[in-house]
Amino acid sequence: MLIPVQGVLSKDEVRQFRERLDVADWQDGLKTAGTLARSVKRNQQLADGSPLAVELGNLILRKLGSNPTFISAALPSRIYPPKFNRYAEGGTYGAHVDSAVMLVPGTNISVRSDLSATLFLAEPDEYEGGELEIEGPFGIQAAKLEAGDMVLYPSSSLHRVTPVTEGARVASFFWIQSMVRDDGGRTLLFDLDQSIQGLTPVVEPDDPRLLKLTGVYHNLLRMWAAT
Ligand code: NI
Repeated sequence: MLIPVQGVLSKDEVRQFRERLDVADWQDGLKTAGTLARSVKRNQQLADGSPLAVELGNLILRKLGSNPTFISAALPSRIYPPKFNRYAEGGTYGAHVDSAVMLVPGTNISVRSDLSATLFLAEPDEYEGGELEIEGPFGIQAAKLEAGDMVLYPSSSLHRVTPVTEGARVASFFWIQSMVRDDGGRTLLFDLDQSIQGLTPVVEPDDPRLLKLTGVYHNLLRMWAAT
């Protein structure tokens, strides 16, 4: 399922990110493309481990740590350090599936990609094209969100970024290993949690039905979680 997470960064934070990123040392994205991606990937990226990528990536991770929608949707156990990319002048990334296991550069820690995340750092009216298209059971869904918003989608899905024909699309992207590996189970838990959050203000806090639902949530998570 494709899950939007709104307001990961405020507009002010996006502006501060962009002041740095718009003058950054962007490199050809082919440097980090695998054999299959090589033929379909045409964009720019910040070098892994560059001081700017590390600094901004850590700011994103800090914000995500206190974002209830992200926590509920992703149930993260490990997060790959956020990367940054830029598409302009026809830049595109054709249909591909993300690698299943990623080694964090400079460490021996690996992250299994259960969820992929794209955090938009340019407003939709700054560029033409650049939709993130994700193939799911109900066909193709497209995401082109406001700057500061993020979309989560299953890393197992075939996805692409359509050509950016005008302006520039700047984004951060990364992968999440979830405590709940199965997308179906994780989605059920998210739906249940969102329903409980929605009911909480409208029923008495000690309503036995709410307590029971909350118990079901935690007991399902206990059954399925692997850390
Ligand atoms: Ni991808």
